[in-house]
Amino acid sequence: MSDTIDQPEASTSTLSFIEPTMETKKPSVADKWVKPNGPPVGSTFGARLLSDEQDPFEHNAWDHVTLPEDFNLKAEEIMKLHHSNPVNEKLRDGYNSKPAEYWNKFYSNHEDGFFKDRGWLRLEFPELVACSEADAGPKTVLEVGCGAGNTVFPLLMRNENPELNIYATDYSSKAVQVVKSNKMYPKAEHGLGQLHASVWDITSKSSSSSSTKTKTDILKNDKEVTSVEDSIIQNTKNLSITNNSNNDDVEKSYSLPEGIKPNSVDVISVIFVLSALHPKEWNQAIHNLYTALKPGGLLLIRDYGRHDLAQLRIKKNRLIDPEIPNLYIRGDGTRVYFFEQDDFTNMLSAPSNHDPDKRMFDITQLGQDRRLLVNRKEKKQMYRIWLQVKAKKL
Ligand SMILES: C[S@@+](CC[C@H](N)C(=O)[O-])C[C@H]1O[C@@H](n2cnc3c(N)ncnc32)[C@H](O)[C@@H]1O
Repeated sequence: MSDTIDQPEASTSTLSFIEPTMETKKPSVADKWVKPNGPPVGSTFGARLLSDEQDPFEHNAWDHVTLPEDFNLKAEEIMKLHHSNPVNEKLRDGYNSKPAEYWNKFYSNHEDGFFKDRGWLRLEFPELVACSEADAGPKTVLEVGCGAGNTVFPLLMRNENPELNIYATDYSSKAVQVVKSNKMYPKAEHGLGQLHASVWDITSKSSSSSSTKTKTDILKNDKEVTSVEDSIIQNTKNLSITNNSNNDDVEKSYSLPEGIKPNSVDVISVIFVLSALHPKEWNQAIHNLYTALKPGGLLLIRDYGRHDLAQLRIKKNRLIDPEIPNLYIRGDGTRVYFFEQDDFTNMLSAPSNHDPDKRMFDITQLGQDRRLLVNRKEKKQMYRIWLQVKAKKL
């Protein structure tokens, strides 16, 4: 999935280096993420900066670049073309009705594709790696839309925390199968920590089968009454229970993956996944993540930004709906959205479904990561634009 999963190169810059110290410190797990030919430990990743005097064609890529003055103007021309040539209306509902099937097909076609060892995770999301340090204590990490395991396996294979539990979830059963068939599943060779993979749709509302049963069904079974009551007692503290209009069903306002209880997760990673949702699904997705996290727990997001190269390369008849800018269908039928910073601000600062007076998250980082890619042969300059978000559950 070359255009969807992007692994920035490791910078070879020596702009910063570690001062040698007298004591020899035991390397942390974070130190072990650095590849032999990667950046020196402690250096800032992506430190190849392009100055006015430099020739952009000197290297293949540059970090933290400023976009040229005419960039947005040119990009908007392409947006106009997309807008006036959307997907055929008759096909639109088909793409939106069973999106997981297109991902299943994707993973069936790429079954042999092994996970990528993403060195940049340590640099962009040190909070994730911190959970795997030997003395981190009990930690629960939830990876949403895990795909082939590009985040969970790099984390697990270097993990030194015996009390780390990683939950890898995806709504594509095929992706979950790929993860489960990896030789590192459910434990890596060193035996520390554990991986649990399951199928879960981040946009779903009620996951437990009991939540769709009628109250009469529930009352027939004492054991179920206990568990539903337990869950109601727990939920009323933080969560709303919504009864439907005829009061027959008890339905939760959220869904969580197998094995995850409300308020139990330390860190959630959602990497190039929210872009696969329809914007009308964002609220439920964020509500589910909010529910899973402990108060103070961290939500880590990385995804496509508006005007990213992948968006500018899209041809006609791919915009799903002219009313919704930035949402497209790829050639393989999978959806992709290109985010603006405000999308995340609005999503995460929305009030909680449980308490309209309370914001769900405090956004601690919301930034654009821009990288210039250079085709030296064709003298072409192309810009990758990703958004990165860190938010703390309030
Ligand atoms: C672009 S891939 C990214 C995979 C992985 N996060 C990575 O970065 O390598 C998007 C993944 O999100 C999953 N996905 C899309 N919509 C989802 C949903 N509603 N619930 C759970 N997973 C979803 C897809 O099945 C796919 O595996």
